[in-house]
Amino acid sequence: MTKIISPSLLSADFGNLQADCEMINRSNAEWLHIDVMDGVFVPNISFGFPVLEAVTKHCNKVIDVHLMIVEPEKYIERFIQAGADIVTVHLETLKNPFDTLRLIREMGAKVGITINPDVPVNSLYGLVGQVDMVLLMSVFAGYGGQKFIEETYTRIEELKAIIAEENPDCLIQIDGGVNVDNAPKLFDAGVNVLVAGSAVFNSENPEETISKMLNAKNA
Ligand code: DX5
Ligand code: ZN
Repeated sequence: MTKIISPSLLSADFGNLQADCEMINRSNAEWLHIDVMDGVFVPNISFGFPVLEAVTKHCNKVIDVHLMIVEPEKYIERFIQAGADIVTVHLETLKNPFDTLRLIREMGAKVGITINPDVPVNSLYGLVGQVDMVLLMSVFAGYGGQKFIEETYTRIEELKAIIAEENPDCLIQIDGGVNVDNAPKLFDAGVNVLVAGSAVFNSENPEETISKMLNAKNA
C-alpha cells in the first residue's frame, strides 16, 4: 500500500523557506503540501504564485497543491505552470466539477478533489472516477494547528466504499491535526497520504518526525 507524508509548508519558516525545502529534500517525505488560501472560501490568506515558484526551485519532491479558493478554474493553469504536480480543489467551490477536474488533467497535473468535514462523503459519488486522489479534510480548511476530528475515521470507511466501486486506484489523503500518534492509525485505516504541518515543522527534529510518522506502529 502507498504510504506518503506530505508536510504542509504553511507551518514552515517563511523567513527561510530554502532551508525548510532542503530539509524536506533530505527527509523521507515524498510530497510537499502547499496550502493556497484566498480569504474568501476560507477566512485566512496564505500565499500565491511567487512563493510557489520559489519553493519549486528548491524542492525536488512532488508538489501537492491544495487550493482553498473560490473559482479555482481561473488559476489552475498558472498553478501548474508554477510547478504543481497535483492540484486538489474543494468540491464546495466547483460550479462545474467535471469541467474543472478535466481541466487539471488536460493541463498535465494529477487531479485531487476535497471536501470539508461538514460535507457528506456521498457527495463524491460519480466524481471519484475522475480523480487520482480524494482529500478528506480532518479539520475545517483555513488554519494549521487545529485538532483532528475523530469522525474522520467513519468518513474514511464511507469513502473506501465509493473508491471500491468507482476507482480502486484512487488515493486517500487526510489533512489537519495529523501527528505521530494518529499517523499509524490512519495508515492502518487505509489512508495513503498524510498531510502534516505543525506536527512536522514545530517538532525539534522534523526529519525524524517524518520518519516516525511513516514507521510508527499502531498501538
Ligand atoms: C488547513 C490546511 C492544512 C494545514 C494542516 O486548512 O489545509 O494543510 O496546514 O496543518 P496541521 O497539520 O498543523 O493541522
Ligand atoms: Zn492543506
